[in-house]
Amino acid sequence: MSKSNFYVTSPIYYVNDKPHIGHAYTSIACDILARFKRLDNNNVFFLTGTDEHGQKVEKSAIKNNKTPQQFCDEVSVAFRDLTSAINLSNNDFIRTTEERHQKTAQIFWAKLEEAGFIYKDVYEGWYSVRDEAFYSADEIIDNKAPSGAEVEWHKEESYFFKLSQFGDKLLEFYEKNPNFIEPKSRFNEVKSFVKSGLRDLSISRTSFNWGVKVPNDEKHIMYVWLDALTNYLSALDFASEEQKNYEDFWLKAEDSPVHIVGKDIVRFHGIYWPAFLMAANIKLPYKIYAHGWWTNEGQKISKSVGNIIDPYQEIKWLEGLGCDNDLAVDYFRYFLMKEVPFGNDGDYFQKSFTLRINAELANNIGNLAQRTLAMIYKNCDAKIPEINDKSLQEYLKNCQNFDKQIPDLIAQLKFDKALDKIIEFASVINKNLNDRAPWILKKEGKITEMQDILYIAADAIRRLGIWLQPFMPKSAEKILNLLNIAEDKRNFANISDILPQDQMINQPKPIFLRLDLVLAGKQP
Ligand code: MSP
Repeated sequence: MSKSNFYVTSPIYYVNDKPHIGHAYTSIACDILARFKRLDNNNVFFLTGTDEHGQKVEKSAIKNNKTPQQFCDEVSVAFRDLTSAINLSNNDFIRTTEERHQKTAQIFWAKLEEAGFIYKDVYEGWYSVRDEAFYSADEIIDNKAPSGAEVEWHKEESYFFKLSQFGDKLLEFYEKNPNFIEPKSRFNEVKSFVKSGLRDLSISRTSFNWGVKVPNDEKHIMYVWLDALTNYLSALDFASEEQKNYEDFWLKAEDSPVHIVGKDIVRFHGIYWPAFLMAANIKLPYKIYAHGWWTNEGQKISKSVGNIIDPYQEIKWLEGLGCDNDLAVDYFRYFLMKEVPFGNDGDYFQKSFTLRINAELANNIGNLAQRTLAMIYKNCDAKIPEINDKSLQEYLKNCQNFDKQIPDLIAQLKFDKALDKIIEFASVINKNLNDRAPWILKKEGKITEMQDILYIAADAIRRLGIWLQPFMPKSAEKILNLLNIAEDKRNFANISDILPQDQMINQPKPIFLRLDLVLAGKQP
């Protein structure tokens, strides 16, 4: 079967701040989708990076006594480092200060201009530096933006994009693509915003100069969102003559791009970006998925409160509880995806973290693997035992629903639901193991019955290993290595393979460590 192409992107992160849980969360979600798609017969391009222009970044640089470029170079590295710290499989890391990006943004601007969608005028209105967004007077509440950010009054010469001409076209597009923005509630917000009427958008600034220059009018720099959104094209070599990746991953990739973003930036991705693309006559994205926001033990996360959750510290905390780095990273990834339905807001609480890991991973999957593999190692000469055909058929029948639903749920970005199913499957197999107690069957000399059960449990562990790969790459690899599953038999299409009898297994080692609640300082 020939492979399809797939393109997934995270937002590019502002470098005014160091990486925190919000950045890690979006990126991990993208990574799960990217890894899943690779294991499901796709060529994948997964892009992340940093958004380095604009007034917010310029102000932070000044505050830090650095030139904007120096400042960006330093902070961008922190985001690049995060990609390896949380084991992302991104294919590229784009910075908007790179030449390939600046060229793309200028080519894109020229397309909008040639098509007649740009004109020069004077902008007068509210602007929030924190949100890097313009607000109309009716959106201002108590002198603040709807997000709570401070706003400033601006009056300056500006280029405008004729956004007002795109209202009907956007609504028509939304109608034809009912899953364009997910979850539904976010889509509804976007639709009602468009229905309330779109005003032309100011797309250049003259009052500062940290940005991409407007072609043929260097006094102006591009509005940071127009600049930033085009990163999704820059990384596909849009500015090159060949445009190979753009062809492959934008034009020829049917269900792409998928832009995963936070709920706060859905307006930019769901309205401005498709309107810009329509104006430039470029294919529109396949999907915008907006996830929710994390709070910290019930409190809104904010720098001023000082309750920012730092992914590095969380990984250190887990290492302090005895996890090695691979396991700590996998636990962090697992918790973020399992704790909250993707799309909803969630609360980060270390106690919930430890309880969840112990119940679902250590006591369930870990225990299943350890008991089963230890018995096979000891009682079956470390070889996968035989199974009779009737038991095998019955087991495979029970797997059918899981085999179908788990990949479907991941493809739909219902990560928590997919993990629920994975855990449910492990519980069913564990229950079977407890009910049929192969250790007792062994004592009673019922060897073929014991073998049947152990075979099923071993194959179930293989299935769990395959399914867990996108979520917990290192632990899943360890599980599949214990069973000696060949590298080319680890794809989602291999789920229905049959575990070869007589295959040697390796000496079992515990995969999931129980987190000690006393050590964690939060006794139940
Ligand atoms: N630079 C823009 C994106 C441009 S994309 C063309 C931007 N950057 S950001 O660094 O401010 O935010 C990046 C992402 O982090 C957003 O998707 C945002 O929703 C997410 N989060 C920031 N705080 C968050 C939480 N507390 N919880 C979950 N995600 C949050 O916006």
